[in-house]
Amino acid sequence: MTELTGRRVLLVGGASGIGAEVARSAAGEGAEVIMAGRNPDVISPPPGGRSVRIDLGDESTIAQAAADLGHVDDLVVLAADHANGAVTSLDAGRIRRALDAKVIGPLLLAKHFAPRMPDDGAIVLFSGVASSRPSPDLVVMATGNRAVEGLADALAVELAPIRVVSVSPGIVDSGAWDVLGDDGKARLFADTAAANPARRVGTPADIAAVVILTLTNPFLTATTLHVDGGARLT
Ligand SMILES: NC(=O)c1ccc[n+]([C@@H]2O[C@H](COP(=O)([O-])OP(=O)(O)OC[C@H]3O[C@@H](n4cnc5c(N)ncnc54)[C@H](OP(=O)(O)O)[C@@H]3O)[C@@H](O)[C@H]2O)c1
Repeated sequence: MTELTGRRVLLVGGASGIGAEVARSAAGEGAEVIMAGRNPDVISPPPGGRSVRIDLGDESTIAQAAADLGHVDDLVVLAADHANGAVTSLDAGRIRRALDAKVIGPLLLAKHFAPRMPDDGAIVLFSGVASSRPSPDLVVMATGNRAVEGLADALAVELAPIRVVSVSPGIVDSGAWDVLGDDGKARLFADTAAANPARRVGTPADIAAVVILTLTNPFLTATTLHVDGGARLT
């Protein structure tokens, strides 16, 4: 028996990258893992788990999943959609999709799932280092991540004793950076490792370990855990 034995953990937007590692870790700790995404057919849940459809930009899919599942013990929201670029070039639709995935969708998940969670349930949201350390072309990411941290605090107060925490990773080799190409990714990772106090980039396992800690520590709520190698100080 481990601390997640018998708990039903819903991961939203975690089909790949950090989410896949969180799913493996939670299942390894005994949880029933349900993975939700826009296309459940391409999601591979761990043994004993299953996948359901949730598009964080479409509240009806959230309401439907909540009705179908009936209850969950814990909720982890890993989704991210990106609207990077100079503020003068941004498209309103892309901005809205990014904020749907990061802020409005998680808020709607809380609306539909909190009434179906036990008092000892936990909600884990995902911020990111851009919240504390904005850089050019990442204004939407910085804004969304800062909003996630405020959302976690506000939900922790309103939904108490359900715990709500945001986890804020630094640069993680999750697959999300593959879009930069081999050279671009290698340069980003080398520059990040040279600058941050940890002298390396993160791994999905680094972040998954903190999610498991958050799900299992009953005194942890209304805070943001920075798992960024100290990058916000660089
Ligand atoms: N990787 C990093 O370096 C890093 C750094 C700081 C913060 N973070 C944060 O950590 C979290 C996980 O990162 P990651 O790198 O593992 O992410 P990722 O590989 O980019 O995966 C993001 C997931 O979000 C899903 N998604 C996007 N829009 C959605 C929507 N409307 N409804 C449902 N799902 C949606 C995507 O699913 P589809 O397959 O449907 O597109 C994808 O599975 C994210 O919140 C990210 O912002 C990551």
